[in-house]
Amino acid sequence: MVEFTLPQNSKPLEGKTWPRPESARVREFKIYRWNPDDGQNPRIDTFFVDLDDCGPMVLDAIIWIKDKIDPTLTFRRSCREGICGSCAMNIDGTNTLACTKGMEEIEGAIKLYPLPHMAVVKDLVPDLTIFYAQHAAIEPWLHAGPDPEKERLQSPQQRAKLDGLYECILCACCSTSCPSYWWNSDRYLGPAALLQANRWISDSRDEAKEERIGYVDDIFRLYRCHTIMNCTKTCPKGLDPAKAIAELKNMAIAEVE
Ligand code: SF4
Ligand code: SF4
Ligand code: FES
Repeated sequence: MVEFTLPQNSKPLEGKTWPRPESARVREFKIYRWNPDDGQNPRIDTFFVDLDDCGPMVLDAIIWIKDKIDPTLTFRRSCREGICGSCAMNIDGTNTLACTKGMEEIEGAIKLYPLPHMAVVKDLVPDLTIFYAQHAAIEPWLHAGPDPEKERLQSPQQRAKLDGLYECILCACCSTSCPSYWWNSDRYLGPAALLQANRWISDSRDEAKEERIGYVDDIFRLYRCHTIMNCTKTCPKGLDPAKAIAELKNMAIAEVE
């Protein structure tokens, strides 16, 4: 197991307020900024977005700010339709996807922070190194056994067992909302990786069920989940990682009996 060290967070200071555009329809944004190269503390910058010149989603506004006001604003995005998971951030206190969050769903100034309790690469970009290492650790591919050429048929009922699991887009909203993950992310796998572990254990074509259960059945990797349910509440794809973890615990118990 690789040991990771997380840097200390600093309290952000009030930063720059950019000019308000001459428009009747304007939204205020307060955005976390941190640049590893300038030696300064994190700060909160204030921007005003002209709604008559911008799409309706939070991601539209961030792209507008980068295009029209401050090209140094840094964030991840790709698909802009809730599929790639890269635009996950903390919006108005909740982890979610900027591309599927409408500005009209939020009252007052829209506050944007990177996903919480992660080291920050720059501005709204969290360091997901540990998160991806945990995903790799559960070996998210089919273990086909000694005959990889064999066709593996699956009945509709067997396929249905993957519903609610395969749709995960690895956005990390759930893991970074989980208090157990905040304090033990070096040893607790977190809801996203555990949901994926369940996905592969539940796949009738996979031939490594026992080994997979053996790997997660650990006081830290699995049992640091205390069923606080933040993960399920925050998942922007409507998945239920807490239920997937509860099922994993049952599988681990059944494996021992
Ligand atoms: S249910 Fe488990 S994984 Fe989900 S937030 Fe709570 S402790 Fe974390
Ligand atoms: S379970 Fe939901 S919140 Fe967690 S990584 Fe997958 S899609 Fe994102
Ligand atoms: S840009 Fe792909 S999920 Fe938001």
